[in-house]
Amino acid sequence: MDRLVIRGGKPLVGSVKVSGAKNAALPAMAAVLLTSEELTLENVPSLQDVATIERLLGFMGVESRVAAPGTIGLTSRAVRRFEVPYDLVRTMRASVLVLGPLLARFGKARVSLPGGCAIGPRPINLHLVGLQAMGAEIDLVEGYVVAKASRLSGTRLLFDTITVTGTENLMMAATLAKGTTVLENAACEPEVEDLARLLQKMGARIEGAGTSTITIEGVEDLTGAPHRIIPDRIEAGTFAVAAAITQGDVLIQGCVPQHFDAVMTKLRDAGAGVAEEAGGVRVRMAARPRPVDIATEPFPGFATDMQAQIMVLMAIAEGKSVITETVFENRFMHIPELLRMGADIAVTGRSALVRGVPFLRGAPVMATDLRASASLVLAGLQARGETVVHRIYHLDRGYETLEAKLRSLGGDIYRVEG
Ligand code: EPZ
Repeated sequence: MDRLVIRGGKPLVGSVKVSGAKNAALPAMAAVLLTSEELTLENVPSLQDVATIERLLGFMGVESRVAAPGTIGLTSRAVRRFEVPYDLVRTMRASVLVLGPLLARFGKARVSLPGGCAIGPRPINLHLVGLQAMGAEIDLVEGYVVAKASRLSGTRLLFDTITVTGTENLMMAATLAKGTTVLENAACEPEVEDLARLLQKMGARIEGAGTSTITIEGVEDLTGAPHRIIPDRIEAGTFAVAAAITQGDVLIQGCVPQHFDAVMTKLRDAGAGVAEEAGGVRVRMAARPRPVDIATEPFPGFATDMQAQIMVLMAIAEGKSVITETVFENRFMHIPELLRMGADIAVTGRSALVRGVPFLRGAPVMATDLRASASLVLAGLQARGETVVHRIYHLDRGYETLEAKLRSLGGDIYRVEG
């Protein structure tokens, strides 16, 4: 398995371009199942998770072609399988995003239950309850969701927990349902809004995406469309923390500042200079950060996908901070590894008390999940000495050539293969 070797202490300086958003690309690719015409998606990041969903769609019969670097054409004219096997779903729970489109267009689906992952059990009950309310028959057979529906019917659905892919799955299902669907307490993430924009280009009638109430009026069919995936706000936030933690000066190009406002606000509170500039955001820091308390929330709150990264910054802050993870049950897997690098963090329930230390110390550490691995890279960039991050296949799921981008900013980081 590959690993990353990092020698810390060098300020990151320069400019870096953000890739397309993983969490926008995945639902956009699943949307190809809603039409027999080609979807042409631009700015698709080259990531493990994107390759996984492409393989999954191919297994069902979706044809894909590389139209240009970062641009793929997908066509589901010849779909002949309506199922997603366990060995694909277990590597990426976002595979569940094909459920709504398969039911809406083909009236049947057999998708493995995703099972839990490192950050929590991550059930899909809200996806299934919503589809049932729209008229689908859902059975659980040998670890698979077996679903069928002659034609889904529009209805009013109230999510009792805000779910991003739950909102996306049901929004896609509703585009071809009979009648109107209203999603209440829907997720407001930019990726949900981006998916709605794609679906509207395909002919879907959607109002309110990006707010907590989304109304979808079903249509008979959808056409193909060209679409450019939005930039990755979590990658942008990760580079913002990298600039702050190394006391550097980095221009993060091609990002949408409004997509990570909460992160920028916390970085300013910690003493970083954060300014919108030259089509991106410039982050500078010249001293140790001030301690800042943070609680993760659904968008527009502080993103749970940025919790591990901001914790590393607080680990070297001048004082104590409390970081609370309100979205997932077990998203503190990075803490034991940070403790091995000299951090001082104590967990009580869903909160971590972080006592800042002047610097971290390099050590061999192990990645456990996607964003935890990003936080270990950030820790290595700040630490004195050498850090080796093992199991970086987690990182490759969600960051496109991270070490090359960091090296271009002056980071001393390289990959050891095998
Ligand atoms: C999406 O996951 C993202 N993944 C996650 O990013 C992100 O952390 C998460 O949203 C929260 O922002 C993609 O978009 C592909 P949820 P998702 O459904 O949709 C509970 C990354 O790092 N819940 O919003 O799976 C769930 O257990 C990944 O890129 C139910 O109880 O998350 C969690 O506690 C990690 N029942 C909470 O809701 C359900 O049916 C939020 O989960 C669905 C969710």
